Amino acid sequence: MANLGMINKTLGRTGLQVTQIGYGSMGLRGPKTWGVRVVDDEDADRFLNRVLDVGINFIDTSPDYGVSEQRIGRYIGARRDEFYLATKCGCCPRQHEDHLEVRHDWKKDVLERNIESSLDRLRTDYIDLLQFHGGDAETLQREGLIDTLCGFRDSGLIRFIGASSSLPNLPGLIELDVFDTFQVPYSCLAPQHHDVITSAAATEAGIIIRGGIAHGGPDAEIERPALDDIWKSACLDEVLPTGMSRAELILRYTLSHPHCHTTIVGTCDPQHLAENVAAAARGPLAGDLLQEIRERVSRAL
Ligand SMILES: NC(=O)c1ccc[n+]([C@@H]2O[C@H](COP(=O)([O-])OP(=O)(O)OC[C@H]3O[C@@H](n4cnc5c(N)ncnc54)[C@H](OP(=O)(O)O)[C@@H]3O)[C@@H](O)[C@H]2O)c1
Repeated sequence: MANLGMINKTLGRTGLQVTQIGYGSMGLRGPKTWGVRVVDDEDADRFLNRVLDVGINFIDTSPDYGVSEQRIGRYIGARRDEFYLATKCGCCPRQHEDHLEVRHDWKKDVLERNIESSLDRLRTDYIDLLQFHGGDAETLQREGLIDTLCGFRDSGLIRFIGASSSLPNLPGLIELDVFDTFQVPYSCLAPQHHDVITSAAATEAGIIIRGGIAHGGPDAEIERPALDDIWKSACLDEVLPTGMSRAELILRYTLSHPHCHTTIVGTCDPQHLAENVAAAARGPLAGDLLQEIRERVSRAL
């Protein structure tokens, strides 16, 4: 497998050696879902193969992401030994005529339906990492759902269990000390989870960062005004090194978090994919630049 200068990290207690740039496949959700852009089948096929060709070995998906799971199964199922596969559970998406409604239900039968359909759509007989797509510690315990995932693991359907979550639910989930990984949002423009990531990593869990390029920041095709406002209030253009794009600064800041084992960047643009891989190969940002960005953003928030 190609690995164009990509840095590998150990995904916490799973022991998996993952590329620090992973792939988040939410953008491959297809038509009649949500958002402004639809990626067609041909482009999805080309793009998923490109993701593997550049050496990325960790892919995140969910039953909630439209046809993302089907596309992964159909277009790169034959290359299954080249990547670690993470999906989610607790998902009850409902397809309406013109949009996809995303809902979660914390019941055992939902998890059983999710694992069965994910294995089928992904054309595989095992999933490396099954993550709760939200949920809080009390509900997951009360409904016996952690035991359900352990049962899937014992029967070989999955290898590891994780939680994709955020504040305020994360501390309770971390305290359970049962999760092999946590998927957490984080970037220099949304740094609120910095410390809870450190707490999660202290349980030896693997850390998967989402939102790690902050939707591309102010360069993005799909604008996120709130993130753009933070960039502007913090005057980050003033510290952007000559020749570095805003997306590169944001991404390399994320990669600089000492516990960022992988960040599942959600691009569907081959040019951005190449830029992100090249940016990551340049490594973490220098300490004084990190500090300057951190201080400016904390004053701006
Ligand atoms: N609750 C959950 O579990 C949850 C929630 C949200 C997301 N996720 C996971 O996390 C993944 C990533 O999340 P996300 O998409 O919200 O955040 P993200 O990866 O920070 O942002 C993706 C956006 O950034 C843009 N982008 C990427 N590289 C760029 C570059 N070099 N220059 C300019 N723009 C660039 C992409 O546009 P282009 O396509 O134009 O490059 C896309 O619009 C998802 O795919 C999904 O797997 C999980």
